[in-house]
Amino acid sequence: MCGIVGYIGHREAYPIIIKGLQRLEYRGYDSAGIALYDGSDIKLSKTKGKVVDLKDKLESEISTIGSLGIGHTRWATHGVPNDVNSHPHYSNSGDLVIIHNGIIENYDALKKELIKRGYVFKSDTDTEVLVNLIEDVKRNEDIKLGKAVQIALNQVVGAYAIAVFDKNKPNEIVVARLGSPLAIGIGEDEFFIASDASPFIEFTKNAIYLEDEEMAIVRRGKEVKIRKIKNDALVDPYVQELQLNLEQIEKGGYDHFMLKEIYEQPEAIKDTFRGRLLSKEAMVKLAGVEDNMKKFLAADRIIVVACGTSWHAGLVSEYIFEDLARIPVEVEYASEFRYRNPVITEKDIVIAISQSGETADTLAAIKLAKSRGAFVFGVCNVVGSSIARETDAGAYTHAGPEIGVASTKAFTTQITVLTLMALRLARAKGTISSSEFRHHLIELELIPDKVEEALKSDAFVQTISDIYKDATNFLYLGRGFNFPVALEGALKLKEISYIHAEGYPAAEMKHGPIALIDEQMPVVVIATKKGHYEKVVSNIQEIKSRKGKIIGIVTKGDKSVKELADHVIEVPETIECLTPLLTTIPLQLLSYHIAVMLGKNVDQPRNLAKSVTVE
Ligand code: F6R
Repeated sequence: MCGIVGYIGHREAYPIIIKGLQRLEYRGYDSAGIALYDGSDIKLSKTKGKVVDLKDKLESEISTIGSLGIGHTRWATHGVPNDVNSHPHYSNSGDLVIIHNGIIENYDALKKELIKRGYVFKSDTDTEVLVNLIEDVKRNEDIKLGKAVQIALNQVVGAYAIAVFDKNKPNEIVVARLGSPLAIGIGEDEFFIASDASPFIEFTKNAIYLEDEEMAIVRRGKEVKIRKIKNDALVDPYVQELQLNLEQIEKGGYDHFMLKEIYEQPEAIKDTFRGRLLSKEAMVKLAGVEDNMKKFLAADRIIVVACGTSWHAGLVSEYIFEDLARIPVEVEYASEFRYRNPVITEKDIVIAISQSGETADTLAAIKLAKSRGAFVFGVCNVVGSSIARETDAGAYTHAGPEIGVASTKAFTTQITVLTLMALRLARAKGTISSSEFRHHLIELELIPDKVEEALKSDAFVQTISDIYKDATNFLYLGRGFNFPVALEGALKLKEISYIHAEGYPAAEMKHGPIALIDEQMPVVVIATKKGHYEKVVSNIQEIKSRKGKIIGIVTKGDKSVKELADHVIEVPETIECLTPLLTTIPLQLLSYHIAVMLGKNVDQPRNLAKSVTVE
C-alpha cells in the first residue's frame, strides 16, 4: 500500500505533490509527508493523519518553494502511524531523503549491521533502514546515487516502489520498483513520479510504467534512463499513452466516490460488454478467451483465486460457470492458496480476479499456479497493472477508476466479464442451446437499465438505513447465485460502518446463526423469484417466528415476502444467473447510507487501503 508522488521540472512541486497525494489517499491514509528541495536545502514536513492534516501543518512549518520534491501517504506496515514513522525519511547525514511503498523483509538484519557501523535510527520503519543502507553504500564506494541505490537494492529482500534524492545532486530523482507499482509521467522538460497516473493526468498523457526489478534515473531536462536492478542492463523505455481523464478521478457532484461509483454501474456494465456482447449476431467476443479456446476447452477445472470483494465475484462465477458451461470450479482465497501445496496441473485454468491488479496475495497465487504449469487468466480493472501483466491472458473489466475503498462497480463488472466468459465457453462446449444463449445475451444487455431501475430504491433504502443504523449486528442471507451477494453485502456494511455483519447461505442459518436472532437483529434476506424462492420464504418464516427484523430484497411485484418482512426492497426481474447484478445494488446503498448516518469516513474507512500490496 502507500501512495508515492514526486516531481522534478520547472513548476512549483508542492501543489502537484499535495494534490497528487490526495488522489492517492485510497492507497493509505494514516500519515503523510513531503520533502521539497528549496534551492539550497531539503525542507521536510510530515504528520500522522490525512493529507489534509499534512497540508495545514506543512504550510505553517516550512516554505513550499521548490521545483523538486517527493511525497508519501502511508498505510503502516512497520511501526505505528505517528509523525516519526511517516515518510519521507532522511539518511543519517541528512543528504538523502526517501519515500517507499512496500516492505523490506530483511530490514532487521540490515539494521543491526548499520547500527554496528554507527548509524542511528529515529523511526521503527524498514524505510529508514533502506535510506541509510543506500547512504552507507554510496559513502563506502564513493559512487553516484543511482549506483548506490542499485547496489543497496540487490541486498534487499522484499517489495518496494521508492523515490530518493540527494540534496547535493538536486537535478535527479532515483526510482525503483519490485512488487509495488511506479509510473513516470513524461512532460515537457518535467517528470512526475507516482504510484498510479492520477496525480499527473492533467499535465501529461504520456507515461512509463516501470517493470519489476527496474530502476530509473529521472534527470531534469534529460531522458529517463531505465536499468535492470540485477544486471545493470539498459532498458528501452516504453512510453504509453494514458486513457485516463480528470473527470473520471473526481467526485463529479457526488458527496463520496463510493456513491458516484454505485451510480456509475449502469454505464460501467455497458462499458464492460461493449464490443464483446453482440446480441444481434448472437456472439460473445473476448479476445483472451478466443485466442486460448483450445486450453479452455481442454480444461479439467477452473480455479479462481482472489481476495475480498473480488473473491465474492469469483464465488458468483462458480455458480455461473458450472451452471452454463458445466466446468467444475474451485474458488480460493489467494492468501490461503499461495501457502498451501495445492494440486495444480497443466489441465487447470486459473482465473485471477482483481480490481487493482496489485493485490500481493493474488499476485503470489498467480506465480505459484504458473510455476506448476497452469494457464492463468486475469480479470482486472486497472490496465497495465501487475496482475494484468503477470497473467498469460485476460479480459479487462473496463469499469473506470474505482477510488472509494469499498468496491462496488468493480464487483458488478467482474461478474459481467465472468458471465460473458461462461456464456462463450458454454456455446463452444455445446452445454447451452442457441436459443438459451441468445436469451442470456438479451437479458444481459438489459441489465444496465435494470440496475438504473434498482438505483431508484435509493430514497427508500435511506429510510431503512435510518431505522437500523444503530444496530450492532446484521445478518445477510441468500441462496444459490445470491449467497455470495449476502457475503458481499455483509462485507460492505462491516468495512465502512464498522457494524458487525455476517453473510450466510440462508439454509445454513438453522445450523448455528439462528441462535443470534432476536428482536434486535436485522436480517437482510435476498429472496428473488427465481432460485429457491419457496425455500427462502420458509427461512424468512423461521426468522419471523424468532422476532428478527426482516429486510427482504425481492423481485418487483413480490407478494409473499411482503406479507412476512418488515420492509421489502424491489429489484427488477431477470434470469436467475444475473440476479446478483441487481440484488447487490440495494445492499451497496444500505451500507453507504448507514455509514454516512453514523458519520464514518465512507471513502477511506479506518485501517483499510484500496490496493493491498502487502501480504
Ligand atoms: C472490499 C474491497 C476489498 C478488495 C480486496 C481485493 O470492498 O475492496 O475486499 O476487494 O482487497 O482487491 P483487488 O480486487 O484490488 O485485488
